[in-house]
Amino acid sequence: MRPSRYRYLLLMTSDPVSSDPVALSIEGGVRLLQISDTHLGAADGDALLGINTDQSLQAVLSLAASDGRSADLMLVTGDIAADGDLEAYQRLEHYLESFTAEEGLPAFWLPGNHDSPDVSTRYPRRFVRAIEAGAWHIVMLYSQQPGKVGGFLSDEEIAILNSAVARANRESRHLLVALHHPVQLIGCDWLDEQRVANAEQLLSAVADCNNAVAVVSGHVHQATDQVFDGVRLLTAPSTCVQFAPNEVEFKVDQVGPGYRWLELLPDGKVLTDICRVDARLFPANTERQGYQ
Ligand SMILES: [Fe+2]
Repeated sequence: MRPSRYRYLLLMTSDPVSSDPVALSIEGGVRLLQISDTHLGAADGDALLGINTDQSLQAVLSLAASDGRSADLMLVTGDIAADGDLEAYQRLEHYLESFTAEEGLPAFWLPGNHDSPDVSTRYPRRFVRAIEAGAWHIVMLYSQQPGKVGGFLSDEEIAILNSAVARANRESRHLLVALHHPVQLIGCDWLDEQRVANAEQLLSAVADCNNAVAVVSGHVHQATDQVFDGVRLLTAPSTCVQFAPNEVEFKVDQVGPGYRWLELLPDGKVLTDICRVDARLFPANTERQGYQ
């Protein structure tokens, strides 16, 4: 990865729901690493369906470190912890320190349904709500609901989104929306039930954008890529267990842990691909019928 040239100015303080953006000194296009659904347990080495989630995350980060394309920032799109244990976030910080420090790579997180409800207040520099990055404005939405697996955007989240749309229009930027649950159907019945229940509110809000819009999510532990009403809708693999595509019920897939690479171009186009670790290094237990 290229040497550090990134300087970023934190404009927000400790308010976790502030929509004041973090301003990154990036011109034009943005190169972004998305990692998701790390599911780190309370203890280093805890496993999810037989996969040591600390080791698989570290393997994914090593792979990303050898990606010659050089990212400008990293987004972590939720389910950082398997059960909301604070030790999980401490270990993610630790793993990212070595990964990001050398590159000066900013990394921002958002919560998923497995995360602690108050983790955003503990790590305010990670859980930012808006990022100015070159030709793009990035908004981080929270879609988790207390005690539920599925996603929903509260009035407060829709207000944050509306303000991001207004800002992107005012500043003539394209808009990237990041959230844990997808808004789109991906073709797995058991996961489609868990998508953002009021997805139409998000799609209606972003329809007011004057420029390009893309939405990146996690939760479904598989890579999907669609366009709906001109909006690019993407999901990312997990850094641990993968779920099989086009299944009615829970099914594990035997493809490797990975990350999504995104290049957000100045003209609004999005180039993207998936990079994976060798699946044979992290075989998942396929006997289990769920992972809760
Ligand atoms: Fe999730």
